[in-house]
Amino acid sequence: MSEIINAAGIHKTYRMGRTSIEVLKGLDLSVERGSFLAIIGSSGSGKSTLLHILGALDRADAGTVQFNGSALDKFGARRLNQFRNKTVGFVFQFYHLLDELTVLENVTLPAMAAGGTFAWLTRRKSAKKKAMNLLERFGLGARITHKPYQLSGGERQRVAIARALMNDPEILLADEPTGNLDSETGNGILDALEELNRDGQTIIMVTHDEKIAHRACEIITLADGKIV
Ligand SMILES: Nc1ncnc2c1ncn2[C@@H]1O[C@H](COP(=O)(O)OP(=O)(O)O)[C@@H](O)[C@H]1O
Ligand SMILES: [Mg+2]
Repeated sequence: MSEIINAAGIHKTYRMGRTSIEVLKGLDLSVERGSFLAIIGSSGSGKSTLLHILGALDRADAGTVQFNGSALDKFGARRLNQFRNKTVGFVFQFYHLLDELTVLENVTLPAMAAGGTFAWLTRRKSAKKKAMNLLERFGLGARITHKPYQLSGGERQRVAIARALMNDPEILLADEPTGNLDSETGNGILDALEELNRDGQTIIMVTHDEKIAHRACEIITLADGKIV
C-alpha cells in the first residue's frame, strides 16, 4: 500500500476576541491508500477541525498536509478547488443536502460544479445516468424526485454518500456519519462504507463513539490535540 495522506506538525488555534482555543497541537498522521481508518475522540477534541484541514476546507496555522506527496498549501486556487470538488468526498453528520433540489439534483451537483457551463451541457446526460446508478446502488432508485426533507435520516445520509461519490473521490472523509441516526439505521450506513472500502475506496471516518469506530479496519485516537 502507498501513503495517500501525510499530515505533519499540524497546529490549529481558534481566536475569538481575547480568548483562544488551541485545538490541534502538532498533530502527525499518515494514511494508507485503500484503508478504512476511524479517528476516535471526545466531543470538542478537534475531529471536525482535522477533517476540514485534511479536505482543504480549512487551513492549519502551521504544519503541512501532503496528498499523494504534494503539499496542499502549495496548491493554487484552481487546483485547490479541483481538489475539494474531485479528489475528496465529504459526508457530514447533518447531511448538508440542499432542500430546494431533488435527490437526483443533489447527487448530480458535484458534477455540475466540476466544469464550465459548456462542458456541463455535453456531460449532462452521462452525469445524470451516473447519479441514478449511485442512487440505485444505495437503494434510493424510487426516491429520485423526492426533496431531502421528504426522506428519513438514513435515506438522507445515503443520498449524501452518493453525492460524495459522484466525482469518484480518491478519499472519502466522513464526519460522524451516523451521529444523527438510530443504531440500526447507523449500522446500514456503516455497512455501506464497509462495502465501499472493500471495493477499494479509501475512507477516514471520525466519531466519538467507540462502537462505531470498531466498524473500521484501523482505529486511532485524537486527544489533547494529537494522535495518541
Ligand atoms: N470556527 C470556530 N471558531 C471558534 N472555535 C471553534 C470553531 N470550530 C471549532 N471550534 C472549537 O474548537 C474545538 C474543537 O472543535 P471540533 O473540531 O468541532 O471538535 P469535534 O469535531 O471533535 O467535536 C471545540 O472546542 C470548538 O468549540
Ligand atoms: Mg465534530
